[in-house]
Amino acid sequence: MDLSALRVPVIAAPMAGGPSTPELVAAVSAAGGFGYLAAGYLTPDALREKIAATRALTDSPFGVNVFVPARLDEQRQGADVEAYRGELLAVADALGVELPQPRWDDTDHFADKIDLLVDDPVDTVSFTFGCPGAEVVRRLQSAGSDVVVTVTDADEALAAAREGADALCVQGSQAGGHRSTHRVDAIPNDLSYVDLLREVRSVSALPLVAAGGIADGREAARALSLGAVAVQAGTAFLLADKAGTSAAHRAGLQDPALDRSVVTRAFSGRPARGLRNQFVRDHDAQSVPVFPVVDQLTKPIRAAAAKVEDHQLVSLWAGTRWQGLRPAAAAEVVAALAPVDDRRR
Ligand SMILES: Cc1cc2nc3c(=O)[nH]c(=O)nc-3n(C[C@H](O)[C@H](O)[C@H](O)COP(=O)(O)O)c2cc1C
Repeated sequence: MDLSALRVPVIAAPMAGGPSTPELVAAVSAAGGFGYLAAGYLTPDALREKIAATRALTDSPFGVNVFVPARLDEQRQGADVEAYRGELLAVADALGVELPQPRWDDTDHFADKIDLLVDDPVDTVSFTFGCPGAEVVRRLQSAGSDVVVTVTDADEALAAAREGADALCVQGSQAGGHRSTHRVDAIPNDLSYVDLLREVRSVSALPLVAAGGIADGREAARALSLGAVAVQAGTAFLLADKAGTSAAHRAGLQDPALDRSVVTRAFSGRPARGLRNQFVRDHDAQSVPVFPVVDQLTKPIRAAAAKVEDHQLVSLWAGTRWQGLRPAAAAEVVAALAPVDDRRR
């Protein structure tokens, strides 16, 4: 798919952990935009099922987003995961759950997911947390997919271009969810998509998709006027009817007492932007930069809290533009994000 040729230049961001669903992808493409499934945290079998379910709902092209694994042997050195585990024992006890022992293998099954996507290609494969390697890019392109790499600075953009990516998703610091820094232990910059479009454009002529804090058609028009071919929004879709956002997440997003969106490693070990709830207040300072090991450590806590709809102990991923979000049909969200100039036509 040529992302610069969308009827409405609005992309529903891949949102791992539940919000991205086949139904959301189908509704967004029916409204003229483009949708992604999120492969992160899924088993390869679950990903295969979601791709099939999406195809059963729509003939439109769609994408799949994959997490690039970071080297665990490097992360393991010096990171005191045991100490963080110790910090979390009291909250786990209170919820009646056991915390797992850290696992140091690729629990996200990167290679199997790539094999699956080569065997059964989708329109576009995007990557976050790194570049997948030139060989992976070549295999996916030979299978007929376009490859997009998410970047947060000019160096990452250069690396993605060197590997042969077809387009870049430029993710600014206002973005909800994980920051796509290519190193787990990187201190994320605070550049907005506006700054980043300029930086990345100075080193690459690839088509650029803008992401991070884009919540209305005016902002989308601004991104396009700065050279983006489309905008990618996540937070704006979290309360959409077809999104699989959990009840606890939905409640947290609408709790006026939670009034700060912050970047934290507390839940997963990677920097991610979400609302500052009790878990973030209590544990942000102690977390260690190890992903997805910390994510697995906190998973039973998040799952138990989600079950009882306690939004103080789950990750409430949200970008800086979450206030004022209301439940809406996915098509309404696409229409609200359509660049204002398009709507005037
Ligand atoms: C709940 C949530 C989950 C996300 N999961 C992913 C993901 O799996 N892969 C990815 O590339 N980006 C993910 N993102 C980031 C989005 O791709 C995008 O950069 C971000 O949502 C844009 O900022 P906005 O939330 O302000 O619109 C996620 C964002 C949110 C809010």
